[in-house]
Amino acid sequence: MSEIPKLEDLESALGDLAGKRILVRTDFNVPMDDDGSIVDDFRIKAALPTINWLTERGASVVTASHLGRPKGEPNPKYSMDPVRARLAELAPGVELLENLRFDAGETGNDASFVAQLIEGVDGYVNDAFGASHRSHASIVGPPQHVPSAMGRLLENEVEVLLGLRNKPKRPFVAVLGGAKVSDKLGVIEALLDVVDEIVIGGAMCFTFFLAQGKTVGASLHEPDQVDVCKGLLAKATEMGKTIHLPDDVTGTDAQGNFAQFGSRLGEGSVGYDIGPGSAAAFTDVIMDARMVFWNGPMGMFEDERFASGTRTVAQAMADTKAFTVVGGGDSAAALAQFKLDDEVSHVSTGGGASLELLENGDLPGLAALRGA
Ligand code: 3PG
Repeated sequence: MSEIPKLEDLESALGDLAGKRILVRTDFNVPMDDDGSIVDDFRIKAALPTINWLTERGASVVTASHLGRPKGEPNPKYSMDPVRARLAELAPGVELLENLRFDAGETGNDASFVAQLIEGVDGYVNDAFGASHRSHASIVGPPQHVPSAMGRLLENEVEVLLGLRNKPKRPFVAVLGGAKVSDKLGVIEALLDVVDEIVIGGAMCFTFFLAQGKTVGASLHEPDQVDVCKGLLAKATEMGKTIHLPDDVTGTDAQGNFAQFGSRLGEGSVGYDIGPGSAAAFTDVIMDARMVFWNGPMGMFEDERFASGTRTVAQAMADTKAFTVVGGGDSAAALAQFKLDDEVSHVSTGGGASLELLENGDLPGLAALRGA
């Protein structure tokens, strides 16, 4: 695989950055409150090393990002205004274009939208790790036309996540949670080749329960994925790997009252979190590991009654001596909620992107830069 150009390579390609207009694709897809204020500016701050490196060299920086999933047309709910205001405080003088997804050409990867983006631009930097698994215009287009490089955030993410994949320290454990098993099946299968043990929590454990012949009551599950889960459990056994599933669950009973269950749920019962026994067992696995990758909460942690499984796992991530990586999205939000985000080795800015990079060892955004 050829090398991905870095900022220094861009500087060499352009001679001098002073006065050059550089388009920086950032991932400013930050969580927003209903009142339009930013809940967490982690992703904006994470782009500052690249932005500052460029502005210190006299470049004029234009950033561009998506926010949410508007449907290819302007929608005030997804305006970049709040992000622009925060960016102006953190990096005065740096421009930010309007939400890229206000134009259907972004997700459609239209050549005409790419042409619009690079008009008057001397060079391009991709620092949007969290969006680099998308073959969208702003990610894969510009490197075909102007000298391009990866920014510092992207460089660091790739180093850490490919380090997990290519130089694992064993035991290497993946902790996976979240609601939808279908989103994670590919990654579970791919991870079986890479990790020693997989810990599964979150609502997706219920589809695995069904694969084991257990009952799940009214808990979230995906009936059409039960056979695939059966296949994964069999494959893990064949490979001598362990998939850890919860032995107990907390949730609500048929009357809607808080309840604790084993791994067989009766009619009308709903599981919302792993139980205390499973949280303790998962902690032991994490404490004994030398490398841990965590993506996806163990339960509905936004509701304090069902936060304890996720909190226990987050605490184990903080306490273990293992090299710990947390893949973006909800698990990063959970860490922040429990004020443990400084206690892990690396918090990735990408959710889907970190999973896909672990799964495939490459991303469309990286391939585009390699071809630049
Ligand atoms: C993310 O939040 O994971 C990235 O910004 C990508 O967003 P998307 O899933 O809407 O493409």
